[in-house]
Amino acid sequence: MQYDEALLKEYYAPAADDITLDDIDLGHMPSHVSIIMDGNGRWAQARGLDRSQGHVAGVDSLRETVTTCVRLGIDVLSVYAFSTENWRRPKREVDLLMHLFATTLLKELPLFSQENVRLRFLGDLTALPKKTYDVFQEGLEKTKDHTGMIFALAVNYGSRAEITHACQTLAERVASGDLKPSDITQDLISNELYTGGLPDPELLIRTSGELRLSNYLLWQLAYTEFYVTEKFWPDFDRWEFLRAIRAFQGRNRRFGGVVNS
Ligand code: FPP
Repeated sequence: MQYDEALLKEYYAPAADDITLDDIDLGHMPSHVSIIMDGNGRWAQARGLDRSQGHVAGVDSLRETVTTCVRLGIDVLSVYAFSTENWRRPKREVDLLMHLFATTLLKELPLFSQENVRLRFLGDLTALPKKTYDVFQEGLEKTKDHTGMIFALAVNYGSRAEITHACQTLAERVASGDLKPSDITQDLISNELYTGGLPDPELLIRTSGELRLSNYLLWQLAYTEFYVTEKFWPDFDRWEFLRAIRAFQGRNRRFGGVVNS
């Protein structure tokens, strides 16, 4: 996707001590960057605050990251906001997160229009509170004609459930005679996932130093480069994003082969 060099330079001025825009190759950006936003609770606890305040601070990081990705010309940004396992958290925290998703999305719709961002959701939205569900549908409707970056929010998302659902759909098509088992290809499976039609992530960022996938995009991350930062999500900013890109561009991606220029 296109980027505006003048805007980008202004966005990244003044430079950080350890990295500048010149350290990355703007012609070789990952097309899809995905982020496991982690550490809101610990960020808050370290400051003697309630966990909820970590989530509120996390919204600011997310807003900045959306803008950063638009400025850098990233095609797709996806983020893991709420997993199928997160329902196990205290009801008060779940309620706050659902409320935050709805209010933030409503508030940011003008930004999505201004930046031509198209929304997409990954996950089973039918289990969400009605208000959150309705706002998500409104977000989809209001951004459906936008042609810029795709911003995919994973909410009530679980990768094993997603793959299971895809298997069931394909099995039903086989049972109805619409497909033969030998017609099932990797592309067909990919298309049945919530991410159908999107490129697989080229870069996965996880904050707060944890080294696990937490049931996130297990199929789609097969050849993805990982970048793990110790920073908690509320401390993640445009500079840390640039460090992730620099690390990505320094990798030798072989896709299982042996040669790479
Ligand atoms: C992980 O921190 C974060 C989440 C489960 C929720 C992510 C939500 C936000 C960043 C708020 C903004 C999002 C939207 C879409 C408006 P954690 O609570 O697991 O932190 P911990 O591991 O330190 O407990």
